[in-house]
Amino acid sequence: MSIRKLHKPPHVEKQHNSIPVRESQHISHVNQNNHLIIMKKVIIISTSLRPGSNSHALAEQFAKGAEAAGHQVELISLRGKEIKFCIGCLSCQKTGACVIKDDVPAIMDSVLNADVVCWATPIYYYEMSGQMKTLIDRMNAMYPKNYQFRDVYLLATATENEEETPKRAETGLTGWIDCYPKSRLTGTLFCGGVTMPRDIEGNGKLQEAYEMGKNA
Ligand SMILES: Cc1cc2nc3c(=O)[nH]c(=O)nc-3n(C[C@H](O)[C@H](O)[C@H](O)COP(=O)(O)O)c2cc1C
Repeated sequence: MSIRKLHKPPHVEKQHNSIPVRESQHISHVNQNNHLIIMKKVIIISTSLRPGSNSHALAEQFAKGAEAAGHQVELISLRGKEIKFCIGCLSCQKTGACVIKDDVPAIMDSVLNADVVCWATPIYYYEMSGQMKTLIDRMNAMYPKNYQFRDVYLLATATENEEETPKRAETGLTGWIDCYPKSRLTGTLFCGGVTMPRDIEGNGKLQEAYEMGKNA
């Protein structure tokens, strides 16, 4: 990939003279405070399938925060998406593509090209949702490919509100992250005490998700 220099606009004080960026990957602009903003691609994958989802509300706030920071944001909900189980044929390792034709390849392309990947999940049996795990398995074709993402975030909701409640989901996600060694789990935001749809309304964790997205 070619590298080009991005030159400082004349009215920007105390900024880098130029910042090398990967062409087609980053676009920059100057915000109201004359700060040079490097626009990242942020993808948020919201895995709850129910209307009024609490974890989706966190995902939306993360997206709003990232947008406010000037990033390019894509929020994908798995609701209505066709995501079949991995059949374990491993042909993806020879061909780089999955034999199953559904909504996964498009999501995988977005993940590969993102700088930041944020997963949102309800806690099911002290783990990530089955649909999130199914998607991770199906994205096995990306394992040998070049990937752009460095920062990975986890947003989770559950009925219980114990420190331990999201830990296995976090560990499970780390299993995926470990396969992409240039990336790391940058942050986890957990909101316990929410069971029914929209229970999260008015919860302070929504603002925390916004701030997390803004600082992503
Ligand atoms: C199949 C299933 C399993 C669940 N397992 C747990 C659990 O292990 N611990 C917990 O605290 N809540 C559990 N819950 C409650 C959900 O985590 C909770 O309702 C959460 O707010 C759902 O998030 P959502 O609105 O984004 O779907 C479970 C719910 C379902 C449907």
